[in-house]
Amino acid sequence: MASSTLICETQPWKTLKAHVEDIKKTHLRDLMSDSERCKSMMVEFDGLFLDYSRQCANQDTMGKLLGLAEAAHLKEKINKMFSGERINITENRSVLHVALRAPRDAVINSDGKNVVPEVWKVLDKINEFCERVRSGSWVGATGKALKDVVSVGIGGSFLGPLFVHTALQTDPEAVACAKGRQLRFLANVDPIDVAKSITGLNPETTLVVVVSKTFTTAETMLNARTLREWISAALGPQAVAKHMVAVSTNLTLVENFGIDPNNAFAFWDWVGGRYSVCSAVGVLPLSLQYGFPVVEKFLKGASSIDQHFASAPFEKNIPVLLGLLSVWNVSFLGYPARAILPYSQALEKFAPHIQQACIVSMESNGKGVSIDGVPLPFEAGEIDFGEPGTNGQHSFYQLIHQGRIIPCDFIGVVKSQQPVYLKGEMVSNHDELMSNFFAQPDALAYGKTSEQLLSEKVPQHLIPHKTFSGNRPSLSLLLPYLNAYNVGQLLAIYEHRVAVEGFIWGINSFDQWGVELGKSLASQVRKQLNNSRTSGEPIEGFNYSTTTMLTKYLE
Ligand code: F6P
Repeated sequence: MASSTLICETQPWKTLKAHVEDIKKTHLRDLMSDSERCKSMMVEFDGLFLDYSRQCANQDTMGKLLGLAEAAHLKEKINKMFSGERINITENRSVLHVALRAPRDAVINSDGKNVVPEVWKVLDKINEFCERVRSGSWVGATGKALKDVVSVGIGGSFLGPLFVHTALQTDPEAVACAKGRQLRFLANVDPIDVAKSITGLNPETTLVVVVSKTFTTAETMLNARTLREWISAALGPQAVAKHMVAVSTNLTLVENFGIDPNNAFAFWDWVGGRYSVCSAVGVLPLSLQYGFPVVEKFLKGASSIDQHFASAPFEKNIPVLLGLLSVWNVSFLGYPARAILPYSQALEKFAPHIQQACIVSMESNGKGVSIDGVPLPFEAGEIDFGEPGTNGQHSFYQLIHQGRIIPCDFIGVVKSQQPVYLKGEMVSNHDELMSNFFAQPDALAYGKTSEQLLSEKVPQHLIPHKTFSGNRPSLSLLLPYLNAYNVGQLLAIYEHRVAVEGFIWGINSFDQWGVELGKSLASQVRKQLNNSRTSGEPIEGFNYSTTTMLTKYLE
């Protein structure tokens, strides 16, 4: 395929289009009765178990999807990513988040230079700094140890670390290492979020970490100035040096802000914001909270998936299979959304993180043109959303069961972080939770027919309401446990799945121009608010609607 050819013009794409009719003729109920087919749709790797037999697909579909991968040069694209080629062509950057979790002795080049030693230099600096803070040898301006941390950042500089922190907050090993410390996040510029982030904290014992790749993001910089003022007002301006540190690629702006560059932790242009949780963006706040050894396990889990992604044959490669199935669901079966349904409260912030890329998926693949700038004649990207089960079952699952068809990812954990056994009860809380994890995919796949309802003597007038069409695809991913290592695995699977989708669709999953327009319009509004407030200038340059609303706001 020539580089400017759209994937939809290739023969494998056309073959898959034609194959849709065959698949639509077969109900999942029938597909599930073929145990050989089911067996071929299960993969195990490093303690993880993936079952994708409840996808509306058969072995023939999978073969055709692998053909599509070949037509899209998927293997070459993955290799280019791992070898540091500048595959993010609109920003002229490499995409090397895999280097952030590579073992110390690995060699990963960007522009002919091995970046792994630089990565480890920063990791070692984080380890050493966190040790000093956690042991109380680094103290605040009044000589007290810093036991609480507020991490200020937004988007990728927030959602990934929040997801990992939430997942570890109930893991006994991590909790023991936290030793009563608190980690909070401040993302929204809304003053309510500011208040929530510092309520009950004492500036004397608080460390603020300002996290921004660019160090220019309006919300983060305003929030950072607000917290700088909070510290200065309580402890004097000289206290900032002891109570504020930064994570950024722009160390000059960090210094201009008033943070000592020695207390800044670098990362690099080749790390996309939404792929930055394994850089100092996540590693610093998480290590302050849990200690570096716990966070190192998270990096190792992600690295294990990186190696699997780079080397496993596609038919056994978890991120590749997930990516291909997403393309099948979105571009061929026409299902534009995906529900991410972890049956673990500890993963409650996983879906919000994946939404962006999620932060990984929607910021990455929400694109309308190919990597060469050609408008796509097909839809790319998915609408990701989710909520832990069983909570979601009592809200939006109705839509998934009897309304729109939304492919679901069920994520379950074999052993709970917090098992509860009630005397006399044979089924524990976790068993109860997992009973739902196992039942929901079958409810979606099989549905319930009018014949079944009739045999259950359901009154005729209720039959249309109680019928479930079934044939609704899902996949199930079972994790052995949820510790730092498994959280790293989960993160990397989804990051790479998104990359696979983008590689197949032929888009650039690593830029995000779509967020710029809103940002620049907000800056015009901000300027107008400032002018109107300071010199009473009339509102101008906006349409009738915005002018009217701004006038009302200023009144
Ligand atoms: O608005 C999108 C975005 O550019 C994300 O990609 C990024 O993670 C976030 O803003 C924050 O950017 P920064 O880390 O530069 O403050």
